Amino acid sequence: MTYSSRISRKTIVNLFLIGFVTLLFVTNAKPTTFLQDFRVTWSDSHVKQLNGGMGIQLLLDQNSGCGFASKSKYLFGRVSMKIKLIPGDSAGTVTAFYMNSDTDNVRDELDFEFLGNRTGQPYSVQTNVYAHGKGDREQRVNLWFDPAADFHVYSILWNHHHVVFSVDEVPIRVYKNNEAKGVPFPKFQPMGVFSTLWEADDWATRGGLEKIDWSKAPFYAYYKDFDIEGCPSPGPSSCASNSANWWEGTSYQQLDALAARRYKWVRMNHMVYDYCTDKHRYPVTPPECMDGI
Ligand SMILES: *[C@@H]1O[C@H](CO)[C@@H](O)[C@H](O)[C@H]1NC(C)=O
Repeated sequence: MTYSSRISRKTIVNLFLIGFVTLLFVTNAKPTTFLQDFRVTWSDSHVKQLNGGMGIQLLLDQNSGCGFASKSKYLFGRVSMKIKLIPGDSAGTVTAFYMNSDTDNVRDELDFEFLGNRTGQPYSVQTNVYAHGKGDREQRVNLWFDPAADFHVYSILWNHHHVVFSVDEVPIRVYKNNEAKGVPFPKFQPMGVFSTLWEADDWATRGGLEKIDWSKAPFYAYYKDFDIEGCPSPGPSSCASNSANWWEGTSYQQLDALAARRYKWVRMNHMVYDYCTDKHRYPVTPPECMDGI
């Protein structure tokens, strides 16, 4: 073996080491346990920690649903978690994952609501956006996979440019910052991260026609890989406006070509309701709807 080939081999080993160490730092020692960032807010007895708190199980029965919330609020950032929804006959149940300013009058809220269905019928995901107290911006897509068969990643990215709801990296909803058109955008109030599992058979499945089959109870949903990256509030006041935060970076300011293509695919093939095209509710199309996708 020549001297130079020994050098290069050593260099390669070093590069691997450097790469490995970098990876360790960049991934920031994720994932976190449930109790690091969250607490139970509704019915402790119905929330069970699994794997030393790396995951949780939510339970819904005739006595109660349950819920949890982040300990902090955040102003901009990205939150994601893996969720496995109620299998089989889940009609009338709602599993919600959302951000909320928790303010009475001028509410900001970003909602994912997973509406159960009868066995074999697709789950619907309803999204909604409240900005400065005004909501009523529901959209629904039917999921293109069985969300109860396995865990899938659900995330909300929130920066100065838009809010993006994604399922496994596929954007299913984008709410752009259209302040220039007079459309309110949530940017003044920090929001907490919440989740609840509850009964809503008065409206959830086929408009309330399908009732919960309590003989199938208890119902279980599972969560893991909790990840919140954002500016905690209270916290350093300069954080939220810092354009160096990764979630404010150029590649997060609008959908890239691939994400835009996926988003279009969802809208064309899986969208089942859009407030933007509901002439009955909105004879005049809301201004944010005129913005294309
Ligand atoms: C349930 O399944 C029906 C029939 O396939 C579908 O029309 C509906 O969008 C699904 N979701 C809900 C929440 O009703």
